[in-house]
Amino acid sequence: MAERRHTERKGLSLGTLAAGMGAAAVGVRRMLRPRFSFKDRTVVITGGSRGLGLVMARLLLQEGARVAICGRDGESLERARVELERGGGEVLAHRCDVRDQVQVEAMVGAVHAHWGAVDVLINNAGIIMVGPLESMTLEDFEEAIDVHLWGPLYTTLAVVPEMKRRGEGRIVNISSIGGKVSVPHLVPYSASKFALVGLSDGLRTELAQDGIRVTTACPGLMRTGSPRNAFFKGNHEKEYAWFHVSDSTMGLSMSAERAAGKILDACRRGDAEALVGLPTKLATAGRALAPNLTALLLESFNRLLPQDSDTDRHKGSESETPITRSWLTEMSRRAAERNNENEVSLH
Ligand SMILES: NC(=O)c1ccc[n+]([C@@H]2O[C@H](COP(=O)([O-])OP(=O)(O)OC[C@H]3O[C@@H](n4cnc5c(N)ncnc54)[C@H](OP(=O)(O)O)[C@@H]3O)[C@@H](O)[C@H]2O)c1
Repeated sequence: MAERRHTERKGLSLGTLAAGMGAAAVGVRRMLRPRFSFKDRTVVITGGSRGLGLVMARLLLQEGARVAICGRDGESLERARVELERGGGEVLAHRCDVRDQVQVEAMVGAVHAHWGAVDVLINNAGIIMVGPLESMTLEDFEEAIDVHLWGPLYTTLAVVPEMKRRGEGRIVNISSIGGKVSVPHLVPYSASKFALVGLSDGLRTELAQDGIRVTTACPGLMRTGSPRNAFFKGNHEKEYAWFHVSDSTMGLSMSAERAAGKILDACRRGDAEALVGLPTKLATAGRALAPNLTALLLESFNRLLPQDSDTDRHKGSESETPITRSWLTEMSRRAAERNNENEVSLH
């Protein structure tokens, strides 16, 4: 008996030693890897017309990159282009719906014609829809999958042949905390972001041998200013209220500028994954180490949310109440102003 315990202990310490040495080897390899610079690189950011994409575009231009942005809405895209060019640097703004492969190929073709090959692709375009499962339709699931899975796949297929030919390239897929734990009232969103994590991890593994480094970024709530443009179902005013207040709460959400910096650093290092913010790190660890407890906590959180079912969709900007106009959402509203989230006509 004593001998068995001794052998088990020996096995355990050898295992710990091997894991420690493995982690150290990965760390040393990461440190020795030449640092990637964005200077004079061509970067495509899908959905760079507002929010996080726009914040990343600003940072990349400051570092000397050429930046192409896209989005569906021509006016906000144009406002973003004007703002970015004013700051100095080369900017290309192309109207494109990433759900449509023909439009994606036309956008990447325009970048090739303008600047040559794409060095960095950031799949950032996203939509968010909040509401209880009962208010979600099949179309909501299809739309989320179209934007968050097919969109990044189309852009990847459009840039990878040229990256392979040159033996170099970077791809960042912006998933979410929702791609690590399925957050209540965000089921289509979470399902599609989980799918993106699977796609991104697989691309990482298979493209590494071609010199292409793929990073999966999973940020928690960020103050990009997006709640106004998100969609709400069920009791849309109440859904918008809890979501907008959370989005504006320090500790629960992170500034978009800080998150963008962390994501770009992860891309520069060629990291496999960027878990951005403490809530994402805790949720990821919780689901891996204590899945039943995590499920219990999420079930309790779900019970606190409004349960009304209504399949009509309303934008955040159509769901304002005294709560969402109060100081409780101040930080999020300021972010919306900074990051081109408010409808301001150019004419
Ligand atoms: N904000 C957060 O708290 C948070 C947290 C975790 C992850 N994320 C992820 O981070 C990314 C950026 O979020 P955000 O807060 O910056 O969102 P946002 O402010 O709503 O910006 C979304 C961008 O994507 C574009 N877009 C949406 N659908 C598109 C489509 N079909 N084709 C092309 N462009 C499209 C939008 O432009 P148009 O509408 O004009 O097309 C816009 O430029 C998203 O993938 C989101 O899921 C956000």
